[in-house]
Amino acid sequence: MTWLLKAVTGVWLLQLAWRFKRALAVSAVAVFAIAAYGWAGLVLLVVGPPLLALLWRWVHPWSYWRFVGWLVARHRLRTTYGLRWAEVMQSCGLHRPIPGRPGEFTTPRLVRVTDSPVGDVLHVRLLTGQEPGDFERQAAELAHALGAPAVRVTSAGPGLVELTLVERDVLADAVELHDVEAVTDLRAVRFAVGEDGSWRTRDYANIAAEVGGGVPGSGKTAGETSLACGLIQNPAVQYVVIDGKGGEDWSWIAPRAAAYTNEDEDLDVVLELVESVHRLMRARLKTQKTQRGRANFWDLPLDPAHPAVFLVVDEVQTFTDQKGMDKDTKAVAATITARLSALVKKGRSAGVITRLLTQKPTSDAIPTAIRDNASVRTAWRVLSDDAAEAILGPVVRGSAVTPVDIPVSMPGVAVVADAGGQLERVRFPYVDEHTAEQIATRTAELRRDLADLTGPVPAEDATADESASEQEATA
Ligand SMILES: Nc1ncnc2c1ncn2[C@@H]1O[C@H](COP(=O)(O)OP(=O)(O)OP(=O)(O)O)[C@@H](O)[C@H]1O
Ligand SMILES: [Mg+2]
Repeated sequence: MTWLLKAVTGVWLLQLAWRFKRALAVSAVAVFAIAAYGWAGLVLLVVGPPLLALLWRWVHPWSYWRFVGWLVARHRLRTTYGLRWAEVMQSCGLHRPIPGRPGEFTTPRLVRVTDSPVGDVLHVRLLTGQEPGDFERQAAELAHALGAPAVRVTSAGPGLVELTLVERDVLADAVELHDVEAVTDLRAVRFAVGEDGSWRTRDYANIAAEVGGGVPGSGKTAGETSLACGLIQNPAVQYVVIDGKGGEDWSWIAPRAAAYTNEDEDLDVVLELVESVHRLMRARLKTQKTQRGRANFWDLPLDPAHPAVFLVVDEVQTFTDQKGMDKDTKAVAATITARLSALVKKGRSAGVITRLLTQKPTSDAIPTAIRDNASVRTAWRVLSDDAAEAILGPVVRGSAVTPVDIPVSMPGVAVVADAGGQLERVRFPYVDEHTAEQIATRTAELRRDLADLTGPVPAEDATADESASEQEATA
């Protein structure tokens, strides 16, 4: 009956026209162009749009490529993914039968497709009662059904989930920097690239310490170097570097560092430096409120006269792991460890950030008291779950993301915790040491000597320090 009604009223004609709306629109424009301007109009119609597109691409490539990306994504929404969506959902068990209508089902809705450096991202609205975990459990099936090597599932707000079809491993390629942007905001410091190809940032305000570990050659020093290259360009940042490897990995920073040593045998030299930073911390904690008005360094504006101090100790096990040391050296090592421990615990509100790197992520190298107070942790390639746990904590045991399987061929790839505490893989950028050296030389006038920052040692404080160190060392 309905077909008769449609035939009589002419609705069928409208339906047919709607179906071929694009072809009809193009023909109408062509007919109009011929009628108004003759064949020249038609030629203009054929040549005009490509020329306009070329002009657009030349004048404003950014918006042009965005528009092209949007068109391609729209096309994929309708064809590649849209046409098979119901079948994919059903084969992965993510559909729901409609009660009372046997054989029929509803599926989560594919809302949008966007592109990313990794591959297409499908934005999906969940059915009531579903949660992102339902998709996570089916990730492997989804990858096969959608023809992608892997599918990453992320929650994108209430009732929404994003499926990233991972076609390319962004982290497989090195991110080499030939210059590094200056860090102006310590609350958002770019440190590495995430798996979606975009930069990750860290808030260095209100952080006391960071520990990082990984096997030799995994990229610890290089990662720390790239971070330092951005930070040293800020006049309100001073760096103190202690290189326990005893080599020249850090010599590039000497012109800019408030203090630098690569002494790995005479632990007294190292102790003296650590003591200085510790003294600065104590002085700030004691006088900051009366002199500058606030007890917390990070509540005050950043000021080159009162810089944030980054203390980097590379291969920290040289100074903390007492195995094989003679008695006197052991005592010095214990004091260094005690001082580092105090810095890690109390340095935050004094604007002192302690960063410890090691090849040996065990409790001998980084005592648990230090590790547990380090809020930022980075694990480059390690060889065992125990080593991974020693750096990242127990969270790594139940996580699919682990630093144990990072390939040797990918130095600079590491596992870090994101702002929400979830573990993720990132790749640190690589800055070769000549570039780093140039940056350090260029910014050498921003250097302030550590002795100027700490001021002279008050006599009573020096004695108090000595007795405190003895107590902590024996503790
Ligand atoms: N992010 C990176 N991208 C590309 N290559 C890197 C990266 N990081 C490190 N590398 C390469 O790996 C080499 C070793 O890196 P690095 O010196 O940082 O290792 P490490 O973990 O500090 O080793 P060790 O414990 O022996 O000091 C570098 O010389 C460089 O060639
Ligand atoms: Mg190193």
